[in-house]
Amino acid sequence: MFWAIPSLVLVLLLMVSDAVFAESWNLPPLPPPSQYGNVMINRSAGKSDRSPVTFSHWGHRVKYTCRVCHSELGFEMKANATEITEEKMKNGQYCGACHDGRTAFGHTPENCDRCHNGNMGYGEEKFRDLESLPSSRYGSHIDWTEAISKKLIQPKQTIFGGKYAPDSFRKVLTMEPQWAEFPPAVFPHEVHNSWLDCSSCHPDIFNIKKKATKHFSMNFNNEGKFCGVCHLSVAFPLNNCKRCHPALGR
Ligand code: HEC
Ligand code: HEC
Ligand code: HEC
Ligand code: HEC
Ligand code: HEC
Ligand code: HEC
Repeated sequence: MFWAIPSLVLVLLLMVSDAVFAESWNLPPLPPPSQYGNVMINRSAGKSDRSPVTFSHWGHRVKYTCRVCHSELGFEMKANATEITEEKMKNGQYCGACHDGRTAFGHTPENCDRCHNGNMGYGEEKFRDLESLPSSRYGSHIDWTEAISKKLIQPKQTIFGGKYAPDSFRKVLTMEPQWAEFPPAVFPHEVHNSWLDCSSCHPDIFNIKKKATKHFSMNFNNEGKFCGVCHLSVAFPLNNCKRCHPALGR
């Protein structure tokens, strides 16, 4: 009889919906799709006479991959962790690498409030321009994997001239959970490498040896560690159980 217990648990799990799962894991509530991935930057702005700055991930990732900002320009993957100042930006760092009046609007008085707007919903009307992209459940409701692999969007991989081609490392990992009866998670390297650098994850987030990352479990993901570094705020959220645990069905 003992053998029957794990498979019974699995059958039951296969029958419950993502919504039930999400509830049992206490995942944070999701913002409207047009605000998913928006960041309110208020490290120093609030102490000046300017409003906090809002930054939209969907608005920028259609044009640039993550590596441009998080590797080339040095933005941290954590809200309010980067020391961004007006002086640095005028010297071409951070937002100022693009917001220079040529690539994008510059740091001139008429533009201050386009960034310093203190409004998480700023620029929402432009979200409708992305309606034609393939859709997914949760998060921004855009299937970014399909959008980039079908070349419906062609975000720049570098802004420093020259060419950059993503590393061709393609290994798909099957990650067996600590609960033997739960279906494994998949980790496709190729999908990630079309947006990120190896150094976005190795060695700071994940050990480069499979099964070597310590304390790796869903609880830690939910706290914003490991997969949760990106899959709570910018990449599709943890609510989408089936996209990482495909045996749960689509
Ligand atoms: C492209 C977006 C953008 C534009 C345009 C912009 N800022 Fe900022 N600004 C930022 C960001 C991001 C920060 C960092 C905010 C933080 O960490 O709280 C910042 C910080 C500031 C700060 C506080 C930090 C410091 O260095 O003093 C002031 C003051 C400021 N901006 C004034 C202005 C003024 C005045 C204008 C218009 C002439 C302007 N900004 C235009 C994005 C922008
Ligand atoms: C145009 C620049 C840009 C691009 C492209 C970009 N980011 Fe960001 N990202 C930022 C900035 C700016 C912040 C806020 C940093 C800060 O406040 O210190 C941020 C913050 C984050 C955060 C923390 C969010 C939070 O709420 O704490 C994550 C996670 C993240 N980015 C992941 C990604 C991923 C994954 C991609 C690619 C799909 C990406 N970013 C593309 C600029 C960018
Ligand atoms: C890698 C280049 C790049 C970086 C870095 C970048 N942006 Fe942008 N941003 C753009 C481009 C290109 C556009 C669209 C063109 C335009 O509106 O001039 C844009 C548009 C915007 C818009 C939309 C404004 C509107 O009124 O429609 C905001 C707001 C904005 N960026 C804020 C920021 C902030 C804040 C940062 C830094 C935290 C930042 N951007 C960093 C390239 C960049
Ligand atoms: C989005 C995060 C992420 C990125 C980007 C990434 N990796 Fe990984 N990588 C992982 C994870 C997660 C593991 C498994 C770690 C574990 O099980 O402890 C892993 C494991 C590995 C392993 C061990 C595989 C095995 O079977 O033992 C190698 C080798 C590796 N990565 C190389 C790379 C290279 C090369 C790149 C860049 C081309 C890269 N990774 C980019 C997340 C990433
Ligand atoms: C550094 C950021 C980052 C980390 C960490 C990360 N991912 Fe992702 N992941 C992304 C981005 C960006 C995408 C593209 C899709 C999107 O943005 O919604 C993606 C897509 C995926 C996909 C979708 C594949 C498809 O076919 O659409 C899977 C599955 C996935 N990630 C699993 C994982 C797992 C499992 C982990 C932890 C072991 C992990 N990811 C860690 C950023 C990350
Ligand atoms: C971004 C990818 C991702 C998503 C989305 C995701 N998981 Fe996981 N999950 C993982 C990874 C990776 C592991 C394996 C950890 C390990 O190697 O031990 C895991 C492990 C598990 C385990 C085994 C116990 C444990 O903590 O290790 C359970 C149960 C689980 N996930 C349930 C869920 C449920 C329920 C959802 C939806 C609410 C979900 N997962 C969504 C990546 C994901």
